[in-house]
Amino acid sequence: MLIAPSLLSCDFSRFRDEIIRVDEAGADYMHLDVMDGHFVPNLTFGAPVIKKLRNATKKPFDVHLMISEPHRYIGDFANAGADIISFHTECDSDVDLTLKLIEERGVKPALAIKPGTSPEAVQPYLDRLFMVLVMTVEPGFGGQSFMPDMMPKVEFLKKEIAERGLQTLVQVDGGIAKDTIATAAKAGVDICVAGTAVFGEKDAKEAIDTLKALCE
Ligand code: DX5
Ligand code: ZN
Repeated sequence: MLIAPSLLSCDFSRFRDEIIRVDEAGADYMHLDVMDGHFVPNLTFGAPVIKKLRNATKKPFDVHLMISEPHRYIGDFANAGADIISFHTECDSDVDLTLKLIEERGVKPALAIKPGTSPEAVQPYLDRLFMVLVMTVEPGFGGQSFMPDMMPKVEFLKKEIAERGLQTLVQVDGGIAKDTIATAAKAGVDICVAGTAVFGEKDAKEAIDTLKALCE
């Protein structure tokens, strides 16, 4: 299991040091939650902040866009050094166009679905995706409870990916913790985002090691 700590739960007054801390603790990706106060009822940070943080680590930047019009900002996030860009099928941008913009910039594209969205929404694009992000909470805030009833979506997508001979990874985001990660692993999840479960613990390495061990 790969672990992508969500920096949403870090100490923002020490943003750069927090990235270095979880890098050294064994984080696989840095999950960066971008919110616009419109697609979700919360605001975080944008491309300029990500650009300044890019050289804090060599680990991939996994940028999760929870914004209404992602197509308008793909160039900015690509320039900021995003390795993966996830955006939501529920956004107002054209999905095909937005994927094209990401592909043209040589960034790995990912599509995210909210709890109320069927996995069929990503099916037409599956062969173009590096990753599918299945939200296991309503996007907007860290610290919410994991929704185990999202696991059939993961199973559906894993089956579809295998049948089509694709390499697409499946990520879950929201409520991943010691008592929920095994459920995600059993469903076939490849990457778990974890905010509270990493930054809420004193020892980030122990937190990441424990989460990984619980998947074996
Ligand atoms: C929620 C964000 C998540 C969030 C996860 O909208 O996309 O990445 O930070 O936080 P936890 O792991 O605390 O649920
Ligand atoms: Zn996220």
